[in-house]
Order: sequence, then structure tokens, then C-alpha cells
Amino acid sequence: MTKPRIGVLTSGGDCPGLNAVLRGVVLAAEKLGWEVLGFLDGFEGLLPPGNYMLLDRPRTAGIMPRGGTIIGTTNRGHFVAKVGAGDRTVVAEEVIADAREVLKELRVEALIIVGGDGSMVTALQLQEAGINCIGVPKTIDNDLEATAMTFGFDSAVATVMDALDRLHTTATSHKRVMVLEVMGRHAGWIALHGGIAGGAHIILIPEIPFDYDKIAAAINARADRGSLSAIVVVAEGACPRDGQIVMRPNQEGEYRLGGIGDIVAREIAAHTGKETRCTVLGHLQRGGAPTTLDRILGTRFGVKAVKLINEKQFGSMVSYQNYQVRHVPIAEAVNRLRLVPIDGEMVQTARDVEISFGD
Ligand code: F6P
Repeated sequence: MTKPRIGVLTSGGDCPGLNAVLRGVVLAAEKLGWEVLGFLDGFEGLLPPGNYMLLDRPRTAGIMPRGGTIIGTTNRGHFVAKVGAGDRTVVAEEVIADAREVLKELRVEALIIVGGDGSMVTALQLQEAGINCIGVPKTIDNDLEATAMTFGFDSAVATVMDALDRLHTTATSHKRVMVLEVMGRHAGWIALHGGIAGGAHIILIPEIPFDYDKIAAAINARADRGSLSAIVVVAEGACPRDGQIVMRPNQEGEYRLGGIGDIVAREIAAHTGKETRCTVLGHLQRGGAPTTLDRILGTRFGVKAVKLINEKQFGSMVSYQNYQVRHVPIAEAVNRLRLVPIDGEMVQTARDVEISFGD
């Protein structure tokens, strides 16, 4: 007798914890007597003739501690339904029709899509075109609406914290200001959580426009108290009041957020006269082994996705709410970025431990 088959793919920027999801999916599916096909390199694996590998127990054994994704991913290609913030495109009908045909020929009854906001927009389109989809929210940025947390975020924050611990010692030795630029797109979650955990003195996030005079005042106030070094975390999407978000082209000519760290460092030096250095943490935040939390969250999300297929809750996205793994309609999760509430408890806590937001 042929086994029921499901598919899984990982899409968008990678993050620690993706392999924990894949392992969770495979173990939960095998328990139900199902077979799992892992489509390679995101949605691109759905194009004819179908590029996939069988994911089974031996194939997924030992993968949980590994960063990245064993089935590959991409944030470009034929299925990109969203480019940057607010810039939307739709996936061509013939591309979706091709994918539907491939899934039909391979007898894949439902597809688990592990991705961020853009991937969920594509998932919704596939669902509307009659492909049974379940979404699993992933991104280091933690900016997806309808889930309190995405896996990958905690690992990225741990990397920021580790970097800050290291910057503290060299900053103190040289009595310098150290600026650390971190990822997060248009949300300041990584900067805020990493900055608090790493004992930053100034955190600059996209949600709170900053002022160089205020940053200089905070650094000078520290100096007046005898602390001659300072640690500044700046989110890549942060920008000064009346300023512009900084972007730069990569080798492919695509514009990516980044570059604000150098500018902030230059301005701090000019405003305070203090020796200032900038470190850009970049893709280190996306690599390496997942933290305990991301391994557990990834496993829970993978298992839940299989359960949702079993319950035929197609068009749903796994969601983390009040420490429980639940689900919401994918439609509720897309097109709305979850930003840091500027009057929220986290920002207030930071202010209460004398962290300045440069405002
Ligand atoms: O969305 C995840 C993320 O790492 C962002 O924080 C960052 O702006 C972007 O992806 C980088 O993308 P790429 O890997 O394509 O340079």
C-alpha cells in the first residue's frame, strides 16, 4: 500500500532551528505512517520536474544542532511574492499551475512552508490556488504578526549578546565607543533584546527615530560619571529623526538594509570627540547552532504543522501564543509587520536600566 505523502520546504533567509523543524516534521509524520518529501531550495524545488529529496528518519538523524537547512533555501526566484517592505508582487499563475502539477504527480497531499512574511504571502497564494498549505513562521527578525515569537530569533539574540560581551572588554580597555550594527529589517527586536542582554548603553531601533545630540549627551553623561567607554547597538533599519533608512547594493545589485552603523560611529566621533569603532555583525546572526529555545520551538512547530495537516486545517500558520503552540489563518499573519511597541514594557525596562534610545 502506498503511504500518504506530504511535502516540506524552507524559504527565505535561513536561520538556526530550521533543521529542528524538519526533524520534527519527519518524526511526527512517520508516526502517522506518512512519507515526507523535502523540496530543495525553497519554492524553486516545486518547479517541473520537481527537485526534492526523501526526508526520513536516517536522513534527519543528528541534524537538530546544525544551523542552516539541509534542504536549502532562497529568498529570490519564481515564487517571490514580496520584495522589501510594502513592495508586493504576485506569483505568476503559470508558475503556480506548474507547482500544482508537480505536487499532483508526486502525490503530495499537503505542503508545509517554513518561512517569513514573504514566504507566507506566497503560501497564501498557493492555498488560494488549491494547494493544501500549512505555514511555519521563521525569521531571526521576529517581525511576523500573529505569533508572539518565531524560531531563529533567540539564536540571533544570543549571537548579539556574545558579540557585545566581547566588545565590552575591548571598549573598556581603550576607553572607546563601540557601535554594533545588527539585523532585523524594519523591526528593532534583535537590537532591543540583544542590547539589553549584552548590557548596551544606547540602543537605536527603527521604531524610535534618534538624534545625534541625544546620543552624544548620553555618552558624555557616562563620561561625567567616570565611565569612559560606551556600547551602542544600532538596528540596520534605524534612522535619525528627519533622516533616511540606509541601504546599499549587494553583488547582485539588490538593495539591502545596512550601513547605518558606520554613519552612527562617524557622527558619535564628531559629536563627542571620542574614538569610535563600528562592527557589523551581519550573517553571523543567521548561522551556527540553534539555542535550546529554538531547538524546542522548532521541534514543536514541526510537530504542530503535521498535526494541522492531519486535522485538515489547511491555510493555517503555526503560531506561538502565551507559551502554547496554536494556529491562525495565514491571511491573518501576512502583510502586517510586528514592530516593537515604543511604550511597551521592554522599552520601558531598558529605559529603567539607563539605556538611551537616542530620543
Ligand atoms: O530577514 C532576515 C534577514 O537576515 C534580515 O535581518 C536582513 O536584512 C536580511 O535577511 C538579509 O538578507 P540577505 O541574506 O539576502 O542579505
